[in-house]
Amino acid sequence: METKGKKARIAVLVSGGGTNLQAILDAEREGIIRSGEVTLVVSDRAGAYALKRAEAAGIPVAEILKKECGGQAAFEERLNGMLEENRTELIVLAGFLSILSEAFTRKWEKRILNIHPSLIPSFCGAGYYGLRVHEAALARGVRVTGATVHFVNEIPDGGEIVDQKAVAVQPGDTPETLQRRVMEEAEWVILPRAIERVLAERQAGR
Ligand code: GRF
Repeated sequence: METKGKKARIAVLVSGGGTNLQAILDAEREGIIRSGEVTLVVSDRAGAYALKRAEAAGIPVAEILKKECGGQAAFEERLNGMLEENRTELIVLAGFLSILSEAFTRKWEKRILNIHPSLIPSFCGAGYYGLRVHEAALARGVRVTGATVHFVNEIPDGGEIVDQKAVAVQPGDTPETLQRRVMEEAEWVILPRAIERVLAERQAGR
C-alpha cells in the first residue's frame, strides 16, 4: 500500500497509438495528476506506437503477445507478474483491446480504470470498441455522445462510472471526425482527471 503523500504507482495497458497514454503523461507533467506516476506501460500488440511515447518519456515498457503466451491464462499470469513486479497500485486501460477474465478483474477489484468512447450505457459492451462505437452513434442519430471512465469488473464496460463528458455530434460527422472530437474534447480530459480523483480520494482515506 502506498504511504501518505507518496505517488501511487500506475501501470498503463495499451494496444495502439497511445493518445490517451500521452494525455496521462502530459497531465503528470502539468501537475493535473499529482497523486500518482506512470511506472510501467504494457502493450498486447507488437510495436504499438504507445510504446514509443512511453520510451520517449523514459518509462519502462513491455509487450505481452497472447499468441506467444499460449492462451488467456498464461497471458494473464505473465501480465500479473509484471504488474506485481512493478508494485502496481492502479491499472489504467488506455485503448487496450484484450479482454480480461473475471479472475483478473476480481484480483484487481476497484484498481482498474478504463476509458470508453461513449456515454455508457449507450454503445458499450461486447463488440463496441474503436470506430465501431462512433459508427453506431451516427447510425442511431444521437445528437450528443462523449466518453466515460469506469472501474473495470467482469462485465464489459459494466463497472462503476467514475467520470463522463458529453460531446456534440456535428452535421456531416464521419466516424473518424467524431472519434477525433470525442478523444480531444472528452477522453483526454476526463481520463487524467479521473485518475487523480481516484488516487487522491484513496490517499485521503475516502
Ligand atoms: C480510441 O478509440 C479510444 O477511444 C479508445 O481506444 C482507441 C485508441 O486510443 N479508448 P489510444 O489513442 O491508443 O489511446
